[in-house]
Amino acid sequence: MRPRVFVSRQIPAAGLQLLENEVDCDVWDQPLPPPRETLIQRSTGCAGVLTLLSDLIDAEFFDAVGADLRVVSNFAVGYNNIDVQAAAARGIAVGNTPGVLTDATADIAVALILAAARRLREGIDNVCKHEWLTWEPTGFIGQDLSGKTLGIVGMGRIGAAVARRMRGGWGMRLLYTSRQPKPEIDAELKSEKVEFAQLLAQSDVVSIHTDMNPDTKHLFNEAAFKAMKSTAVLVNTARGGIVDQAALEIALRQRQIFAAGLDVTDPEPLARESNLRELSNCVILPHIGSATVASRDAMATIAARNLLAGINGLPLPHAVTA
Ligand code: GLV
Repeated sequence: MRPRVFVSRQIPAAGLQLLENEVDCDVWDQPLPPPRETLIQRSTGCAGVLTLLSDLIDAEFFDAVGADLRVVSNFAVGYNNIDVQAAAARGIAVGNTPGVLTDATADIAVALILAAARRLREGIDNVCKHEWLTWEPTGFIGQDLSGKTLGIVGMGRIGAAVARRMRGGWGMRLLYTSRQPKPEIDAELKSEKVEFAQLLAQSDVVSIHTDMNPDTKHLFNEAAFKAMKSTAVLVNTARGGIVDQAALEIALRQRQIFAAGLDVTDPEPLARESNLRELSNCVILPHIGSATVASRDAMATIAARNLLAGINGLPLPHAVTA
């Protein structure tokens, strides 16, 4: 009998085909994530599950689905939705899809930097609402980027790709925070690792590329916004929980910072009652960082390969360790 797997959403054919060649796939074909009970029920007895960042995979899930589960393959580079330690304790492998969405996500970060700095949301609204009356010498004045300072929070693959773009295209000076020094990137881009406080105080643009963990939750809070320049732009393409959204709303309303560009929110989708969407100096996208043909095909392929390797008891091509 072929092993059974649950795939918690339709994924690009490039990955699904690989799976269907070898295993019996039960694919959740609805547009919204499976409810928790359904996720558990459909995963029960499966050898593997292919999950999205909207699926919470925790100890309760592992205990409920039974001992057949050998692998959880996340269709994402981030894996904060998975309790990796609980998986390891049960001998369940966990995989992710690094590398293949670096450029796509960096491009969205750059798009948000430009959109927020140059007030694109206000400009687009102005045209769509038929409020464009004339060319205004003092209208829609935004922030310059050339020669200014970019602060990268988390100089991993995506952070470095954004740094490279903004250094090459806009000649920005680069500061960053990171657990490890990055001498090769410093040599290439003349970047400088600094303390978080210095990054906040000196950056004209701050772009978040760190992972979400207990240390980074609400890293951007009231104190952080107060420490930033009033002309600063904040961009987040990592995880919504890194920013305290209530504090961000105050900071944007009171012009403690100039503008924000968010591809991620907490929760996702943004809560109906969140006022952030009303603010003209806040650009929000529905988490589309990796949404290009090549990235999503490659993510699907890697996720499928991780899943098949885990089912066959082989090392995952891209394993996540506790
Ligand atoms: C998307 O946010 C991902 O982690 O791949």
